[in-house]
Amino acid sequence: MPRLILGIESSCDETAAAVVDDQGHVLADVIASQIAVHAPFGGVVPELAARAHLENVVPVIEEALSKIDGGLSAIDAIAVTRGPGLNGALLVGIQAAKAMAWAKGIPLVGVDHLEAHLHAIFLRRDEADASTPVPAFPYIALLASGGHTAIYEVRSPLEKVLLGQTRDDAAGEAFDKTAKLLGLGYPGGPRIDALAAKGDASKVAMPRPLMNKKSLEFSFSGLKTAVARHVEKEGRPSNDAAIADLCAAVQSAIVDTLATKAVLACQQREVKRLVLGGGVAANRGLRARCAELCKRAGVTLYVPPVASCTDNGAMIAWAGFAQLDANRTADGTLSPYSRSPDVVRGKIRKPRIPPH
Ligand code: KG4
Ligand code: ZN
Repeated sequence: MPRLILGIESSCDETAAAVVDDQGHVLADVIASQIAVHAPFGGVVPELAARAHLENVVPVIEEALSKIDGGLSAIDAIAVTRGPGLNGALLVGIQAAKAMAWAKGIPLVGVDHLEAHLHAIFLRRDEADASTPVPAFPYIALLASGGHTAIYEVRSPLEKVLLGQTRDDAAGEAFDKTAKLLGLGYPGGPRIDALAAKGDASKVAMPRPLMNKKSLEFSFSGLKTAVARHVEKEGRPSNDAAIADLCAAVQSAIVDTLATKAVLACQQREVKRLVLGGGVAANRGLRARCAELCKRAGVTLYVPPVASCTDNGAMIAWAGFAQLDANRTADGTLSPYSRSPDVVRGKIRKPRIPPH
């Protein structure tokens, strides 16, 4: 009998629960999105996110368990996102996971959200997925999401090396902030993706900071300034074609930088396998640009289906197996962390001078 893990995710604005077996087959995958809650504010409001998780967590877990024979009694372990994420949001998933693991007397494992994104490529969601090739270790992974943008060398299910990251905004943040400036609503990534498909990127020049440097760092904060300046000078695009052109230019600047650096990492590390992960990996422009550059460089590209790129419980469950097999089980003291220990946000903060 394959072992089954229930994965619970509540780090940001999706409450998710999934059941995955030890071969990566996704048996249930339920997500309650909070888009409607946060859309009026143009971004995630932490307090509202925590409250919405509290409302959704039990129904989402119940629905996931109802999809498998035996329900909760068939589950061998529970995996939950520990961080990074919004503290109030994380606490909801962690408390639910702790309570269930304690009541059932089954192991509890805490999962790093970023690590889960890096291994989501191994999930098998349907028949079509079953024949999709998976990468051998080591591989280079480009993680691009709403909160993080980084390149890793993934050496095993439990070992990763950070090669480079953004100095300021994450790629998803750049999509979301530009969409907000253009009044396109939240979340911006999918909207810009759709509009960019109809636009001409060459109509508007956008900066590509650090693009030609040999470092594997990114910087995206200048992009929203460039869009703001463009809007200041030219006014908000008044017709659909002009909006589409601007979206295409913004998207092209982001994906060009991401794809170029990811392939550069493969070359520098002499690893000919590139895996995409995180919500921005759903972007069609990024997928196409990575395919193009990988082909040219002789790198094999592995792209998860969209459902495995954006936040989901299945990736948490799958990453949970690696923790479980390494005996890294948690106890009742499992607590959240809001920042990943090895990912620094490059925002320059004024030094805090202690009061006398
Ligand atoms: O991984 P994810 O679901 O949550 C985080 O861990 O942050 O990523 C969410 C981010 C958002 O910034 C969203 O705008 C972006 O992923 N995103 C996209 C697309 N779909 C989601 N960005 C560009 N194109 C998309 N199709
Ligand atoms: Zn994520």
